[in-house]
This record gives sequence, structure tokens and C-alpha cells, in this order.
Amino acid sequence: MRMVDLILKKKNSQELTGVELEYIVKGFVSGEIPDYQMSAFLMTVCFSGMTYKETAALTMAMADFGDRADLSDIPGIKVDKHSTGGVGDTTTLVAAPLVAACGGKVAKMSGRGLGHTGGTIDKLESIYGFNAEQSIERFKQIVNKIGVSVIGQTANLVPADKKMYALRDVTGTVNSIPLIASSIMSKKIAAGADAIVLDVKTGSGAFMQTVDDARSLAQTMVEIGEQVGRRCVAVITDMNQPLGLNIGNGLEVKEAVEMLSGQVMRGDPLFEVCMLLSCHMLQLSGLANDDDTALSLLDEALYSGAGLKKLAEMIEEQGGDPAVIKNPEMLCRTREKIDLRAAKSGYIKGMDVQGIGMAAMLLGAGREKKSDRIDPAVGLVLHHRLGGLVSAGSSLATLYVNDDSRLKDAMALLEDSIMIGDAAPGKTPIVYDVIKK
Ligand code: URA
Ligand code: CA
Repeated sequence: MRMVDLILKKKNSQELTGVELEYIVKGFVSGEIPDYQMSAFLMTVCFSGMTYKETAALTMAMADFGDRADLSDIPGIKVDKHSTGGVGDTTTLVAAPLVAACGGKVAKMSGRGLGHTGGTIDKLESIYGFNAEQSIERFKQIVNKIGVSVIGQTANLVPADKKMYALRDVTGTVNSIPLIASSIMSKKIAAGADAIVLDVKTGSGAFMQTVDDARSLAQTMVEIGEQVGRRCVAVITDMNQPLGLNIGNGLEVKEAVEMLSGQVMRGDPLFEVCMLLSCHMLQLSGLANDDDTALSLLDEALYSGAGLKKLAEMIEEQGGDPAVIKNPEMLCRTREKIDLRAAKSGYIKGMDVQGIGMAAMLLGAGREKKSDRIDPAVGLVLHHRLGGLVSAGSSLATLYVNDDSRLKDAMALLEDSIMIGDAAPGKTPIVYDVIKK
């Protein structure tokens, strides 16, 4: 086999075989296939696309290298969730304990944040003592004991994806549905869960800006799951405004605690997406046969406090201080709190979610590059939703600030990212679609 022939085959929009895709991934990981050939290949995939069969074969070839978590000695169906990346998305910290409180086995590996999006591991590490770097053995022990554990991705999880992503990043080949789908699914498969609920975001703060693209990515990932024997459901949810009102690590843990304490209202985007994800996680776990049954189990776990208790147990098992459950304010104490005030009266007609995420990053809540340190306490709290009516001079958002070196930039960016107009905008849906096999 020669790489150049495979590039030409893909360029002519022919379907590659599993053996050919394995040859490409193996050759690239080992260094036998040079970056320039792999770059050409990735670019042809951007233009020619891939069938579901090819995408599934690419995914499995990628998942074949590096660590594979074997969770088979945890009895029952192990369920995971994944979000394609959003702002104010603290759903893992709510859904994972809620599902465990209903008897589910939630074994989840999560990532760190980069750019405008946050990462679950950074949020958990805002809790004093919390250790996200557990061995696979200990991870399994915790899931067996309490039904839930969230740890960081192991260093050697799908090295093929790390190497391919780094090349995609500098060759303009990130934005391809088969490449995104195989990147995400290879990591989910290596992480070991039997069933996966995927939250594909669409809107100004998402990878997939249109609902059609989001649906296509969702369908591709569900199809890969089917072909490789993992049960998947994908939901398509809105990212034209941050999911929660809090953006920042400690602030998002606080909002998750509030949600699990029953303080977030039904109809709120965070409430609805947390319940939707949990609902499908329970059904994939075989603990409910339909939406209504799942939702009533979840209501019980939420309003009895069982979900919150589960979060406290998980924090304790992973070395963290569970005092945050009773006093989440301790996670977001900063030197200053500064309000951004509305320049005029009107309706919030649009939000640039990426801009809002970047404003929080400028305050120190996120990373511009991988090596940046984050400040767990800082961030911002929005006081309005899309469509909200504001009066001139009232507070649009409160910024939690420790280091004011980039405060001016953060304020200006936040102000530009919250658009005020005379007419109320049309209502945006929270959930666009649910895709299952
Ligand atoms: N997230 C991933 O993990 N991979 C991609 O390619 C894009 C988003
Ligand atoms: Ca994320």
C-alpha cells in the first residue's frame, strides 16, 4: 500500500476500506507517514467527505492506539455523556450525580477548557483538594461504590487524535464532520463506557453554527456508535446564549449545586438540558423505558436532595472538601465584584456567546493556550437571558475579579457581546432535536 494512492482514491471520492484507514492511522502515529501526506489526506476528507462506514472504521483505527479503559468489572451498563463544547455548560456536574442517584453507573472522563469554552475538570478542581487524576483502578472502585466518578482523560488516551488534531489545527482541517465525529468518538470509545449521550451544541457559541450541521454531526456520531456496538443518543441544543448564567469555574460549580438544590426553575435552559441529558442517560442505562418514567425518577432524585448528596459523595471520594455543597459561595470569593451596566434600555436581542466566554477568559477563568493557569474563583454572572428587558444603568452582569490587568478589555468585550435593541427577539428553542437509532 502507498499513502499517495490512498490520497488519490479519497480525492476521487472513492470509499476507503477499514484496512486502508488502519494503514493511514498506524503509519501516521508511527511517523512513517509524514505530515505533508497526512495534511493532504485530511484536506481531501474535508472536500470529499466520508461514508458512515469509513468514519466508523477511522474511529476504531484511532481508538486502537493508546490507553483503553476496560470497565467490564463494573456490573451493569456504564454510561457517559459528552458535550461538543459550550459556555456556562455545567451539565456534567448535575447529570452525572442525578443519574447515579437513580441507580445509574456513570463513568466519565472529561477534558479541560481551552479558549472560550470551559472544561469540567477545571470546574471540579476549583473544589479544594479535588483530585481528577485517579488511576483507572481507583476510578472503577469509586463507580462501583457510589455509582459515579469523573476523572481527567489519561495522558495516553487516543494519541492518534492528539497528533491528528494538532495537524488539523494548523492546516485548516478542523471543520469536517467525519473528522470531528471520529475525534470525539474515538476518545469516548477508548474511555470505555457502553452507552453515550452526546450533546451537540448549535449557535453563536458552538462549533456547528447551523442546526443542519449539528444534526449531521449528531447523526454521524450516533451511526458510529451503532456500527461499533456502543449505544448512543444525541441531542441538539441551543448555544445562542450561555447555558447557565454563571461563567467561571467555581461559579459554575455553585450553579450546579443550586440546580441540584432545586433552585433553578423548570423552563430555564440549564434545567431543561440537564434533565434531557439525564433522561436519555437513564434510558440507555436500562433504568427507564420512556421519557415520562425517566423524568419522574429524576424529579424524585432532584427534589429529595439525593442528586446533591451524590455530588457530595463523589467530591469526598475524590479527595475534595464537601463543605462546598453547603456553602458554594466559598468557591467564588474575589477581591472585587464589578457590575457592567446597560448603556440603554431595551431587549437583549442577541448574545455573542463566544465573546462572553472570551470575556471570562480575559478575567482568568479560562486558557488562551494550554499552559495558561486559571483562577478558579473569577468569572462573570449574567443577570438576563436572551429576550430579557433591561433598563439603562441597570446591571447586565457582575464580573468577579482578582487580577484587573485585562479588566478593561473584558468589560468592553462583554458589552459588545450583549446586544440591546428596541424589539424583543423571537424565542429560540432550547432543544432542537433528539437523534437515536
Ligand atoms: N472536539 C474534539 O474532541 N475533536 C474535534 O475534532 C472537534 C471538537
Ligand atoms: Ca466542555
